[in-house]
Amino acid sequence: MIALRGATTVDCDCAEQIKERVKELLCEIKAKNRLDENKIICMIFSGTSDIHSYYPAKAAREAGFYSCPLFSALEPEIDGSLKLCIRVMVLAETSAPAEHVYLHNAAALRKDITQIINIALDGPAGSGKSTVSKILGKKLNILCLDTGAMYRACALKCLNEGVPANDEAAVAKIMEDISLEVKYADGVQRTFLDGKDVSEDIRKPEISMLASTVATLRCVREKMVALQREIASKTSCILDGRDIGTNVLPNAKFKFYLTASPEVRAQRRAEESRAKGFNVPYEQILQKIIQRDNQDINRKIAPLTVAGDAIIVDSSSMTVNEVVAFIENKIQEKI
Ligand code: CDP
Repeated sequence: MIALRGATTVDCDCAEQIKERVKELLCEIKAKNRLDENKIICMIFSGTSDIHSYYPAKAAREAGFYSCPLFSALEPEIDGSLKLCIRVMVLAETSAPAEHVYLHNAAALRKDITQIINIALDGPAGSGKSTVSKILGKKLNILCLDTGAMYRACALKCLNEGVPANDEAAVAKIMEDISLEVKYADGVQRTFLDGKDVSEDIRKPEISMLASTVATLRCVREKMVALQREIASKTSCILDGRDIGTNVLPNAKFKFYLTASPEVRAQRRAEESRAKGFNVPYEQILQKIIQRDNQDINRKIAPLTVAGDAIIVDSSSMTVNEVVAFIENKIQEKI
């Protein structure tokens, strides 16, 4: 079962316009969600207290929805809320993703699902960015863009071509015709390098440091940042990386900087690597994390740093769920 939301406003409290706008709203919900009428379980309407002249639910019958149960309720008067507004929730038997509909300025009710929203989530390795971003992406029903995966793919390309990751001229040459694509399968990011799915290969431990090295180069960053901005301009997404809030999307409305002590981060990475069947000693992981932090923080172009307007979240003694809840609350407060 799915709950489809919709809302519309009217210019005045008059029966004719209420009927017309409600019909328009229901027809659009039906069309966008390819709804079969017999799959509709019920419709629940509410109207703001300045609507008296007509029951919004009645318009559903006039629009041809004859069989499903209908219910109309009055909304309390709340300071600052939209005036002359009608909302509907349509419960239906379908497993397709919901397409909610907001008409005639009612989008102001749900900016989170009607506007393009970009969330910048920056921070060092092991701070929990990718875990948090995946959970948040699912909860908010928006894409997650793991920008580190792109630098990892560039590093893999260098490795495959036998080009040292710090040789700017040689890297610039292979960057000229690199084909890097990010696709989504069931909401999960897959990274394609020159047409091949390299999502697993780029996770190999030796790629991490190489990615950090290749990410210091202007020729690499310019190309990756352009791609990231293009994706973010077309769809709501949460981007995790090092320079999203400072450089890729300096005007992002939501910016978070996730961090934790190097020891805690190394501990997390050690557990991850054990779970994957590798037995890398903790001390070695800690040393690599510190080395990579240093390189990311001290590089000349777009270094890892906290954006002035980012909210810092130190996850050293927080669970994943606590971090997610904290960030979610901050987003909801600002929407
Ligand atoms: O997952 P983990 O934190 O280990 O690293 P990652 O996010 O996959 O990023 C790998 C490397 O790419 C980082 O160490 C950075 O040097 C670089 N990177 C970057 O420079 N800018 C980004 N927006 C994302 C990653």
